[in-house]
Amino acid sequence: MPSTALDPRFSVVDVSAFSRRHIADIAARKLAAARIPGCFDRAALDSMTAALHRLPTVDYHPVRVAMTRFGPALNDYRTPQGVLEAERYWAAADAAERMWREAAMEPDPARMSLDMLGKAWGAKVTAATIGGRPAFVGMMREINAGTLLHYDDIHLEYPAGLFDQEIVSQLTYNAYLAVPEEGGGTRLWQHRWEASDDTHRQRYGYDPCVVDGCRRVTIAPGHGDALLFNPNHYHRVLPNGQGEEGRRRVTVTFFLGLTPAGDLVAWS
Ligand SMILES: [Fe+2]
Repeated sequence: MPSTALDPRFSVVDVSAFSRRHIADIAARKLAAARIPGCFDRAALDSMTAALHRLPTVDYHPVRVAMTRFGPALNDYRTPQGVLEAERYWAAADAAERMWREAAMEPDPARMSLDMLGKAWGAKVTAATIGGRPAFVGMMREINAGTLLHYDDIHLEYPAGLFDQEIVSQLTYNAYLAVPEEGGGTRLWQHRWEASDDTHRQRYGYDPCVVDGCRRVTIAPGHGDALLFNPNHYHRVLPNGQGEEGRRRVTVTFFLGLTPAGDLVAWS
């Protein structure tokens, strides 16, 4: 049976600020996740969400899981062989950056988040680069119906490499701009992809049987929370509840990569 008991090697901590240690422990998979409850205050959230309607979004339906998003994710611009479709990606990245400037979201949640993470790490977080060009950072995503079980691993998505920087370890960052009254949690399992899992692929994700018996934690989203976890662990977003109000779950989301030189770089 999956257990929700907090294992010392797989726990979630609530903190008032991220530290270098939190980031290093999540990168090393010693800590499941760290969260800053209410990292963004109500006034900042109100002004961010007021600007949401100024952003054109595209509906994104990877086989029946509906989400709406703004800004390109590198993972969606790769060929079946794991090569970047560069022309399409850069066109989308340029367009997203232009629209982002025009929407003038103040304060800028992606900027604030990168600054905060740089402070925690002790060195500025910069965008990962591809042929010298900075990747897009700061995708906004609305997921209301949950996602399938999956993991994210840039090395498996782009086996021949993608960035100018080598990535030793990967983290996911989420900032919650809007949360549902109930549901919408992030569930993580203490299990990393292994080759035998691929017999249980299910559309873009995996059959839940691959995490049977694994330790798990569920992190409920709160207004303005900031969350860090290691996406090599299998995870999924749970569907929003049925409550009449607050049915939207909107996050600003990007990945962080730790380089051999000890720098943190970001991409979406
Ligand atoms: Fe993910």
